[in-house]
Amino acid sequence: MRAFPAGHPMSIDPSIKHQLSSIRDFIRYGASLFRRRKLFFGHGTDNAWDEAVALVLYAVDLPAQSGSEVLDACLVEAEKQAVLEVFERRCDHVPAPYITGEAWFAGLRFYVDERVLIPRSPIAELISQQFYPWLTSPPARILDMCTGSGCIGIASALTFPEAEVVLTDISPEALAVANKNIEAYHLEASVQCLQSDVFENVKGVFDLIVANPPYVDADDLAAMPGEFHREPVLGLASGPDGLDVTRRLLHKAAEYLNSGGFLVVEVGNSAWHLEQAFPEVPFNWLEFEQGGDGVFLLYREQLVACAGYF
Ligand SMILES: C[S@@+](CC[C@H](N)C(=O)[O-])C[C@H]1O[C@@H](n2cnc3c(N)ncnc32)[C@H](O)[C@@H]1O
Repeated sequence: MRAFPAGHPMSIDPSIKHQLSSIRDFIRYGASLFRRRKLFFGHGTDNAWDEAVALVLYAVDLPAQSGSEVLDACLVEAEKQAVLEVFERRCDHVPAPYITGEAWFAGLRFYVDERVLIPRSPIAELISQQFYPWLTSPPARILDMCTGSGCIGIASALTFPEAEVVLTDISPEALAVANKNIEAYHLEASVQCLQSDVFENVKGVFDLIVANPPYVDADDLAAMPGEFHREPVLGLASGPDGLDVTRRLLHKAAEYLNSGGFLVVEVGNSAWHLEQAFPEVPFNWLEFEQGGDGVFLLYREQLVACAGYF
């Protein structure tokens, strides 16, 4: 059972636990509480009920995949307290993955904490489909630029076991988390971390450069729900139009790509700004069956042809 250090006084009435008994009771109570507190969902689950299920099971040390057979099990006093403490943190707008320490990406579990953005990029679908139809042969070298937890590069390394994969980030704190995930998947032989401001310390050329850089513009950042402000600002903010890092990627990427290689970048809502800034560039905007947009792909040859615009 999870134990948490005593924090500020609980905003949830602690006596409520005497009126609740089963796991089902606590899930129902949590779901209502989260809705009443107007929490934001979107860092792993998209609704209050699933979030309450995940947090109650975590608090009482049951597997996240537990079935309905556990719902009517009664909780002992200490377990009830642990659930309320988890609810309390969530009501303080801490996203659930930072509480449970895990997030899922491309069907894989990743350790996460406040040092990294919570994985949620639609690029997961592209990796699961082996970059079809863009990639015509298995890549020998892959660069995951702005790696955060390492999710994109690690999922790519597992998809292409013969490839050498480099994960880069400007943040040493993020790279410490990425390293933990490399170790969890025993990928030390094929995946390495490199601290770098965009391409500053990167050596050699790649068949594939994939990046989910920070891309939130200043207006969007100010308007985001509290849960996003728990994430590292380095993982979100990128100048007034959200494109500071993307501009630098576009300017330099061709030098680090093999002939026939390509660059994939997520820019989310900043896609509009990008189209306005570079109307001459033929961005290939990718479509995703499982949702998400704002991801473009450019071949090295296209980057070279457009070099004058970047
Ligand atoms: C949006 S997060 C993406 C994390 C991860 N790739 C994912 O998809 O969940 C962006 C990451 O870029 C890193 N970053 C920000 N500015 C950077 C820069 N100038 N050079 C390299 N990495 C940078 C941040 O530290 C953060 O980890």
